[in-house]
Amino acid sequence: MLSLRSFSLSLCFPGKITQRKISCPPQLPQIDAAKPSAAESAEHVQHIDNHLKSRGIVKIGLQFDDDECTYLDKLIRQLHRFHGHGIPITHSASRGWFWDVCPQPADPTQAHIARSETMNVFPWHTDCSYEAKPPNYFALQVIQPDQCGSGTFSVLDISRLVSFLSPTARKALRELEFRIAVPPEFMKHEDAKYITEQLLQADDGCGIARLRFREDIITPLTPAASIAFQELQRTLTSSKMQSEEIHLPSSMLPRGLIIAMDNRRWLHGRSQVLDPNRHLRRVRSRPFAKL
Ligand SMILES: [Fe+2]
Repeated sequence: MLSLRSFSLSLCFPGKITQRKISCPPQLPQIDAAKPSAAESAEHVQHIDNHLKSRGIVKIGLQFDDDECTYLDKLIRQLHRFHGHGIPITHSASRGWFWDVCPQPADPTQAHIARSETMNVFPWHTDCSYEAKPPNYFALQVIQPDQCGSGTFSVLDISRLVSFLSPTARKALRELEFRIAVPPEFMKHEDAKYITEQLLQADDGCGIARLRFREDIITPLTPAASIAFQELQRTLTSSKMQSEEIHLPSSMLPRGLIIAMDNRRWLHGRSQVLDPNRHLRRVRSRPFAKL
């Protein structure tokens, strides 16, 4: 049974420092894995798939050391084999599916660096929002927790966000009237500097809202798109949405914790990182549907 509790938390997200009372129930479903072979248990994998398909998010607490991510590797293969999940995107021949997220201090000699590679605040976004087909799911495993009390990871249910939008805004966000710039560090061709897309995916009949979002690279192309985008931005920073935010400070991100989520159903963001040794490992699914 979930119990409500609250505490005061210093936040530097997204881009401002506030001291406020946050209602912080353990709102995200969590499953523990007692041993590496849990990833081979049909029941265990089924529970995780249930959470990913119903809530769109799940935390998995590993009760054993696994800095090589062998459990996560096995789990992904089982989700693919028995539950229709995609096999992840291979980052490189050497790193395979996994990508090490180790934010580094600013280096003026590097012209373009992904924001996830810096120590800066990373405001609300969905991953790869500038790609024609962003990944459906991604997971992060904590390898080395933040020892400085920084690097709060935050998530926000997109269904809740969309429920506060007017029907007019929802309709406009579903139109192909948004130019999304490809950040220079992710540009694959010189002539592929942006894509033109809808931000909100049409309701699939299940009442699940799916969004792509990264505020700083989106340009509305029509007056209606502009008004809808402004409403989306206003709603995102409104006090009613603050009560929907779920914050995981470093104390709630222990070594061995995995957070897996539907990249189209949850926004995520990160506060400033002060610990240069903070280390997460990320894996993203290959897209298997539009948006
Ligand atoms: Fe991200």
